[in-house]
Amino acid sequence: MREDARDAAARVNEQRLWQRHAEMAAIGAIPGNGVNRPALSPEDIQARKLLLSWATARNFTISADGIGNLFVRRPGTDANADPVLTGSHMDSQPRGGRFDGIYGVLAGFEALEAMDEAGVITRRPVEVVAWTNEEGGRFSPCTMGSMVFSGARSLADVLDVTDNEGTRLRDALAQTLAATPQAAQRAFKSPAAAYIEAHIEQGPLLENARNTIGVVTGIQGLRWFNIEVFGKTDHAGTTPLALRKDAVRDAIAIINALTDLTRDPHDITRFTVGRMLVTPNSPNSVASHVLFSVDIRHPDPQRIRELGEAVEPAARKAATVCDVKVIPTLHDDPCVFNPEVAGVIEAAAQTLRLPNMRLPSGASHDAMYMARLCPTAMIFVPCEHGISHNEAENATPADLAAGARVLTASLIELANR
Ligand code: HGY
Ligand code: MN
Ligand code: MN
Repeated sequence: MREDARDAAARVNEQRLWQRHAEMAAIGAIPGNGVNRPALSPEDIQARKLLLSWATARNFTISADGIGNLFVRRPGTDANADPVLTGSHMDSQPRGGRFDGIYGVLAGFEALEAMDEAGVITRRPVEVVAWTNEEGGRFSPCTMGSMVFSGARSLADVLDVTDNEGTRLRDALAQTLAATPQAAQRAFKSPAAAYIEAHIEQGPLLENARNTIGVVTGIQGLRWFNIEVFGKTDHAGTTPLALRKDAVRDAIAIINALTDLTRDPHDITRFTVGRMLVTPNSPNSVASHVLFSVDIRHPDPQRIRELGEAVEPAARKAATVCDVKVIPTLHDDPCVFNPEVAGVIEAAAQTLRLPNMRLPSGASHDAMYMARLCPTAMIFVPCEHGISHNEAENATPADLAAGARVLTASLIELANR
């Protein structure tokens, strides 16, 4: 390991990193030690301002692209060299934890500060990115900011997505961009030499194996859909069942059909219905409309393709009296991370004598899209009992700092190639 990388890794400040998590966790704090920081919300804006205040204090430069992805840049000797990027997201699930996403942003920022304090000079600039709307909890789908940045979808394609209250993404985005006027414009698909994302594992493998560092090999495939069922509202007491077009009953039939489709004796396939909106949503009116989400995942490229293609036929077959609309909103095949970048991470963990293992990611991340643009890999640190997307999500200051040390050393290595 380069001497400057070793020195900078040693200057990662565990207390400062933990304290930053506490400051961010106060934004959108909810009972049970969790956070609710929806994308492009006032809480998201507050977190962006806090990050930018730290960046300004360090004289790092700031830019933002058209969907609000925030870039904090530490210069290198070659201003024209493609930067090395790191980062993650600051938005959370409605009942999210204090570490999902924000850890990758704060570990990246800690790496820049440790480089400053070690007087490290890199050839390439190094940038921390806070991606917009990774979770997709408010505006579907997930990983939207990195998806648009990488060119996988156009900004125009997502601007009119609405949240449960009917707010359009374009309006929430305009407010968010206006809140950070000091950020220079950043082009979509601007080149990067490499991308490393640090994240909690959101699973139990590291904790069970008593390992501190996960060298992530890739992300499983996922498909998201919105399914709409169109019925007719009627009186619950007077309308015979035979005459009803009950959208809830048909939605249940569709969900049962998708449960059968995804049934897996090995429990590898993931199928989730997490959102359901019923209209008119009254106990004594037959439902005229249901919209529900479908999230299906599998690590095998062929299997996830088969499952994705089977959703619409299964839904149409299961609906008995209502019309059905199946809208695909996310189509991600499994991604394999760059072996060279993974090797840099593994070598840094070995040199820093941190117990480590290679593992795939069950959760998706912005690295899914950055892997389409540049050599990409991820670093995992353990979270308690693997719990995430839950207020009880927890991690230790020591593990968070260990991940930041491996990140710091890896970024310096890549920024001098
Ligand atoms: O859904 C996911 O896998 C990510 O945590 N947003
Ligand atoms: Mn995340
Ligand atoms: Mn998440």
